[in-house]
Amino acid sequence: MEDLKSIIRDVPDFPKKGILFKDITTLLADAKSFQRMVDLLANRYIGEKIDKVVGVEARGFIIGAALAYKLGAGIVLVRKPGKLPSETFRKSYALEYGTDTLEIHTDAIQKGERVLIADDLLATGGTMAAVVDMVNELGGEIFECCFMAELEFLEGKKRLPEGKTFSLLKF
Ligand code: PRP
Repeated sequence: MEDLKSIIRDVPDFPKKGILFKDITTLLADAKSFQRMVDLLANRYIGEKIDKVVGVEARGFIIGAALAYKLGAGIVLVRKPGKLPSETFRKSYALEYGTDTLEIHTDAIQKGERVLIADDLLATGGTMAAVVDMVNELGGEIFECCFMAELEFLEGKKRLPEGKTFSLLKF
């Protein structure tokens, strides 16, 4: 995993001073690394019955769509407000300063469907905790929350359902 980790670029002071940003675009843009990352994640779930993969805007779409294709599942989009055209369920969640909101189509997941949620990064866990609530609200059964990478020192995992989190790369 160290080779995959090392291709993720550190960008200092982005989006604001003092933050060392993990820029995954360098991994995505490298053909072999992208393929390997998707295969490693997908291999964990191949053979399981997964009806839907939920991808979280925006980088989660990339990983979610690749996984859904590999698993033969549907891809469901969790989007920032005002982007989804039909009836939505919204969830607001707290940030360090202020709140953020995400939306999902109310008919995107049927009761009892088995759902894998995918995102690029687990940081504080606020985003994924909100998505977990949304999927539960629609009656989906969460199989796992999976991430390409996790910032372990932020302890986001503690905010997510116990034993249902997997991250490929840990920082
Ligand atoms: C980033 C990342 C996760 C979230 C993780 O998304 O892709 O979705 O933050 O942070 P958390 O665990 O502290 O909630 P961002 O909101 O930057 O959206 P983007 O993918 O559209 O850039």
